[in-house]
Amino acid sequence: MKTANEYKKLTIREFTKAADVYETDKAGIYEMCRKDYPYIKDELDKIEYKDLLDCGCGTGAMISLLHENDSSKNYTGLDITPRMIKVANEKKLQSAQFIVGDCEEIPFEDESFDVIICTNSFHHYPNPQRFFDNAYRVLRKGGYLIFQDYTASKALVWFLNHTEMPIANVIGHGDVAMHTQKEVGEFCQKANLQVEKIQASKGMRLHLVAKKPKAY
Ligand SMILES: C[S@@+](CC[C@H](N)C(=O)[O-])C[C@H]1O[C@@H](n2cnc3c(N)ncnc32)[C@H](O)[C@@H]1O
Repeated sequence: MKTANEYKKLTIREFTKAADVYETDKAGIYEMCRKDYPYIKDELDKIEYKDLLDCGCGTGAMISLLHENDSSKNYTGLDITPRMIKVANEKKLQSAQFIVGDCEEIPFEDESFDVIICTNSFHHYPNPQRFFDNAYRVLRKGGYLIFQDYTASKALVWFLNHTEMPIANVIGHGDVAMHTQKEVGEFCQKANLQVEKIQASKGMRLHLVAKKPKAY
């Protein structure tokens, strides 16, 4: 078992290596992340928002797609790996800012965003509840969290967390843990986020849409 800082150092090392190829056809396993972008876009199309935060934005691929479609919104990308943020900033998107930071300690004021997206980053977080608590804090009342990551049955999650994850660490990847759908629901509940949609689908995907209540 590693400390939170050891996991984060591994993550930064992993994505420092991946940054320059992440959006190319040499991205290897990371190419599968792109399959989730249409789902995020579909969910975003259902809501009204002005200020969006992408937690674990990587090279800003998702924000680039959104920006292409609508540059009148304010897009912010947050990522712990400076090299990913450097690649994102090199795109010089007019309505986007990309910042180095930790999704467990989101470096923004309370109630700054209408929507947070988080895709394929959460399984790198050693303190998962902190992410949901921070998401709640920086969302405006009535704001949404739209989230995608890996999941599986309780038994398979246990197995992969005790086999695949440690092997990934040995080969220099910063993966920490997968979570069951039930656990993710509980993180939301503890953070006071209302789950509007939570579903597991093909390819071990977990889709979540959660809302910060308008009144509390
Ligand atoms: C597989 S990439 C996904 C990037 C992007 N969301 C996408 O779907 O293409 C995971 C990203 O999460 C970032 N990450 C991991 N842990 C993080 C943390 N604690 N805070 C912020 N970013 C983190 C990594 O640096 C990496 O860029």
